Amino acid sequence: MRQVDAVIRGRLSSRVALIDQISRYIVEAGGKRVRPRLLLLFAEAFGYQGPARYELAATVEFIHTATLLHDDVVDESSLRRGRATANAIFGNAASVLVGDFLYSRAFQMMVAVGEMRVLEVLAEATNTIAEGEVMQLMHMHDPDLATDSYLRVIRSKTAKLFEASARLGAMLGQATPAVEEACATYGRSLGTAFQLIDDLLDYEGNSAELGKNVGDDLREGKATMPLLAAMARATHDERVLLRRAIEVGDVEQLPQILEIVRRTGAVEVTRDAARLEAALAREALDRVPAGRARDALLELCIRSVGRTS
Ligand code: IPE
Ligand code: IPE
Ligand code: MG
Ligand code: MG
Repeated sequence: MRQVDAVIRGRLSSRVALIDQISRYIVEAGGKRVRPRLLLLFAEAFGYQGPARYELAATVEFIHTATLLHDDVVDESSLRRGRATANAIFGNAASVLVGDFLYSRAFQMMVAVGEMRVLEVLAEATNTIAEGEVMQLMHMHDPDLATDSYLRVIRSKTAKLFEASARLGAMLGQATPAVEEACATYGRSLGTAFQLIDDLLDYEGNSAELGKNVGDDLREGKATMPLLAAMARATHDERVLLRRAIEVGDVEQLPQILEIVRRTGAVEVTRDAARLEAALAREALDRVPAGRARDALLELCIRSVGRTS
């Protein structure tokens, strides 16, 4: 990961001072670096040790960072990685444009690796992420959102990049097509679990620990798993209240809504759904050679469900 960080720092540079300033601002705030870690661990599991792993690990982190810059504009968020968001400090226009810079820098980096399949995987992933974000936008303030549609959104906006990261690691290690698919399944399932817990933490989490504001999803009228599960289990009056809150994005009601989410067992339903996805990820690892890297990937399955930040 130190090597990845060195690549990230090196590739951020631009002649344009504002690009340097904003991209360093968000990158130096840290982040968990889960996606590059996945890529490195799969590469290691299949015995690949070349330098392209650092380049590609940095590439997926750049894509992720670009989506965060754009996401915070779209979500009108004010806190990210324990700091004021880039949009709060530098404005929406600068955030969107620097996000575009990071996206296109990521494409320059993957082209430099010189493998058509790498381009295919990452072009498809970024395209799917954009579809996921737009689908989510179309579902805003919709209390009738079906769980299936919600799952399609999170698989697209979040799980797809986890899937691509895992797949690229396996590709570098020249895993067979069937084994590569198992690695992709691991990434997709882990990413889905990760977003389910992210959506839970938006209700149950602690802002200081998360480095993000809680309650943002409700404010935007996003029907995520905790609310969908609560609506399915609530009394008639509670359901009326939840529906209205989604329709108007009523964050004033957050304490009552949290109480309903807890009382109806929606917290456990959401966590169980994440647990199920993590179990699928774990199962997929049966196709991966045993060793230190696989142990770390197993550990990630457990941590993705129990995480608080
Ligand atoms: C945040 O991702 C966006 C989601 C998909 C939930 P991370 O939780 O991986 O963000 P950082 O990189 O650690 O800040
Ligand atoms: C993040 O979605 C997904 C992408 C960045 C594409 P969210 O909006 O749910 O994530 P946070 O909570 O802001 O990190
Ligand atoms: Mg957001
Ligand atoms: Mg968002």
